[in-house]
Amino acid sequence: MTSAPRSDVPDTTDAQETIGQRFSRHSALRSEKIYGRGYQGPSGFDVFSRLTAKLDWTPGLRVLDVGAGLGGDAFRMAERFGATVTGLDVSPDMTGICRQRAADGEVTGVEFVTGDVRTADLREASYDVVWTRDCGMYLPADDKYRVWKRLHSLLRPGGQVLITDYCRGAQEASAAFEQHVRECGHHLLTLDGYREVLESAAFTAVTVEDRTEELLTSMRGELSRLETERPAFLAEFTEDEYRALVDRWQKKIQFSADHELVWMVLTARVPAS
Ligand SMILES: C[S@@+](CC[C@H](N)C(=O)[O-])C[C@H]1O[C@@H](n2cnc3c(N)ncnc32)[C@H](O)[C@@H]1O
Repeated sequence: MTSAPRSDVPDTTDAQETIGQRFSRHSALRSEKIYGRGYQGPSGFDVFSRLTAKLDWTPGLRVLDVGAGLGGDAFRMAERFGATVTGLDVSPDMTGICRQRAADGEVTGVEFVTGDVRTADLREASYDVVWTRDCGMYLPADDKYRVWKRLHSLLRPGGQVLITDYCRGAQEASAAFEQHVRECGHHLLTLDGYREVLESAAFTAVTVEDRTEELLTSMRGELSRLETERPAFLAEFTEDEYRALVDRWQKKIQFSADHELVWMVLTARVPAS
């Protein structure tokens, strides 16, 4: 059996324990203020369009959106491509908000399931697409290979994968960046490390792109929108929360500009037979 590739970064055991708190209803709605409705990451329709253009769509494709968050992509994939989407998320607050919004908007073709991708009850060979945006970084190094083996088994022959995720640059990282990664509870791979995980898990046609410039454009836009919409933000959240978000974005922008923090788009396939 193929062994799990080694991670590029040591684990911190408290990371998964904080996921539930990090993605509470309060924090999800607060982050949505900076990212945009339905999102906990870059939300632009142009970003969504560039990502979906990488896959082949036919009506009725079954999509598993891993770490669906507030469901922005899940709703868009159902509406735009007639896909049947299962949005999986470990945070019950996230899936609760999504279900409410699906009911309010009378959206069909989308369901939201609360569960951890490592253990959730999901049927083998039942999806055409695994879609996952900015979620893999929460998986400890030892879980990454196992999860991708599992996701491989959930896909049908010919199945497609699209991942966006945060990675680390290939160069030696600064102490400030390592501290930021630890505080965030992230487990970041390099681009090569990510490719290695997917290939070890038997995916083929793996393509990996560095899209840090696109991330920088998104983050600069998000920060400037937050500053413009400060009064609306302060109607729901505190001044301290506002300052913390601004500080966090300024840090992330600097780390990305220095190429310590890298944003990746990866596609892969399961062979057709
Ligand atoms: C940064 S958010 C991204 C959400 C969404 N994909 C987006 O782009 O807006 C990461 C999401 O992954 C979820 N998550 C983290 N670890 C997970 C796991 N092991 N299984 C399922 N979901 C997980 C979190 O609850 C959170 O909603």
